[in-house]
This record gives sequence, C-alpha cells and structure tokens, in this order.
Amino acid sequence: MSIRSLLNVTDLSVDELATVLKLSQREPASLGRPLASSSGLPLGAALIFEKPSNRTRHSMEMAVVQLGGHPVYTRGEEVGFDTREPVEDIGRILSGYHGIVAARVFSHSVVERLRASCSVPVVNMLSDVSHPLQGLADALTMVNEFGVLAGRTVAYVGDYNNVARSLGEVCVMSGAHYRLACPVGYDASDDELARLSSLGAGSVEQSTDPVVAVRGAHAVHTDTWVSMGQEAEKAERLGIFGAYTVTESLMSRASGDAVFMHCLPAYRGYEVEASVIDGAASRVIEQGHNRLHSARGAMAFLLGVK
Ligand code: CP
Ligand code: NVA
Repeated sequence: MSIRSLLNVTDLSVDELATVLKLSQREPASLGRPLASSSGLPLGAALIFEKPSNRTRHSMEMAVVQLGGHPVYTRGEEVGFDTREPVEDIGRILSGYHGIVAARVFSHSVVERLRASCSVPVVNMLSDVSHPLQGLADALTMVNEFGVLAGRTVAYVGDYNNVARSLGEVCVMSGAHYRLACPVGYDASDDELARLSSLGAGSVEQSTDPVVAVRGAHAVHTDTWVSMGQEAEKAERLGIFGAYTVTESLMSRASGDAVFMHCLPAYRGYEVEASVIDGAASRVIEQGHNRLHSARGAMAFLLGVK
C-alpha cells in the first residue's frame, strides 16, 4: 500500500474526505489502535512545531494517544530543519522511530520535503499555504450543525490565508458554495479561484464587500488579519482590513440561523466583535474541540483504518 500523507485537504479525494469525516464521528475505541505495533507496543508520532500552538499540539497529542501511539513534541529550533541538519536526514531518521511525522512550518516546502523523505505518513500541522487539520475540523463542525454541507453557503471574511484556502477546499469538495470577501492584494488570485472551483460540486465566488459574501450565508468564518510570521506587517494590515470586522450588523445579513466560526486564536475588536464570538451564534468552542476528533479521524485514515 502506498504511504498516504496529508499536506493539503486535496491529498484526499472527494469520497475520502467524506470517509475522514465519518471516521471523525465514530467512537474513538471503534478505530482500534492503528498507532500500536502488532505486539501492542506504541509507535511514536513526531510533532514538530516551528510556530506556537494550543489547539493543534493538544489535539494531536491526545489523538495519537487515543490511536494507541506515543506523541513526541519538539520545537522547530531543536530539530533545526536545514540549520542543524537537512530536512531529508530528519525525515529518514524520524521514520525509524515513528508511525507518523507531523510538522507546523513556516515554509510549505519543508512538509513537501518531509513527505519525500519519510517512509511513514506526513501531516501538515499548518504551513504558509494550508492548514488541512483545521479545514477538516471546520467541515466536521458544519456537518454536525447542518447534517450535510452540500448546498450550504459558507462565507469567509478577511485575509485569504492558509485557513481560508483549506476551508475553501473542504467546502467545494463537499458541494458547498464558498463566498470570499477579501481586500485587494489579500484575496485569492483568478487561478486560485479556478483551482478551487475545479475541486468538486461546490462553487466559489469572491468580492471585496463583506455584505455580498455574507448575504444569506449559513456559516460566517473569519481568521486573524496577521498570521504567524507576518508580525512585521501588523500596522499595515490593521489599516487595510479595518472594514472586514465580523460585526453583529454584518451577521444580521446572513441567514437567520447562521453560525459564526473562527479557527482561533481570535483577536476581539479586530477581525470579530466580542459580542459575535461570545454570542449565541458562535460555534468556536465546538470547532476547537472538533480538532481532536478530526485529527483522530484523519490519522486513522492515513494509517489504513476503514
Ligand atoms: N487553530 C489552530 O491551529 O490553533 P493553534 O495555533 O493554537 O494550534
Ligand atoms: N492564519 C493563522 C492561523 C492560526 C491557527 C496563522 O497562520 O497564524
């Protein structure tokens, strides 16, 4: 069997995405112990972080334990991708200790090089390009909320970043209508919109106007305006994104039963008003908790659980 990795949501087919979501909804014990050896000993999971994390570290560590494995956390500077040693040497060595190698990186090329050098599945725990584990948790949260994602309208307001890209992938692959509202220069290119719309039965539209994106939507998503690694651009970005706050007034343009979602960490008063993220429509805590269930489902799939 070829080794499966998860660098982008699109490493899964449309049917496989649905399978991962189903595995994520199953009782954990029913998945068995795919991260244990045939003699019952735990296999390891390398979790390497070049950037800070709360949800991803905790959910991945617990998902590994629930799948019978043993997580080993290391900070990026300890491992030293291409500073202490080449990525390829790291990948080949870690494959001898672990059943999974996962990394949160500045440059997506590092997880691609890990995939090329590891003999076990590689999981992208966030890169400059994508955040597939977040996209899976977002999809799981909306499926739990709506029953199915197909036919629903999902709005994303703000920066077209790693989170927006993975969310777009799960939406279009699941048959949802994805509406973006992003300022010029921080939006999806025409090529990117064409790529997204080719992924499945859903659709994608983009505007610079949050009201256009949110009108009648069933879920309204946003994310920070300043992603990790962009701190030097903070002042400029705060100026550019000022009209993209998800306010109560903006939420009133969505469907009457619309939910608000955010991957967290959130910056109240910037990308979202406190009364929205802390209000009745907010699903951000369920969404964060679903990171555990979707991480477990995704790793079970990569390890061959049916
Ligand atoms: N949403 C998310 O990935 O959170 P962390 O950065 O805390 O892991
Ligand atoms: N877009 C954000 C997501 C944080 C979970 C970042 O990359 O920092």
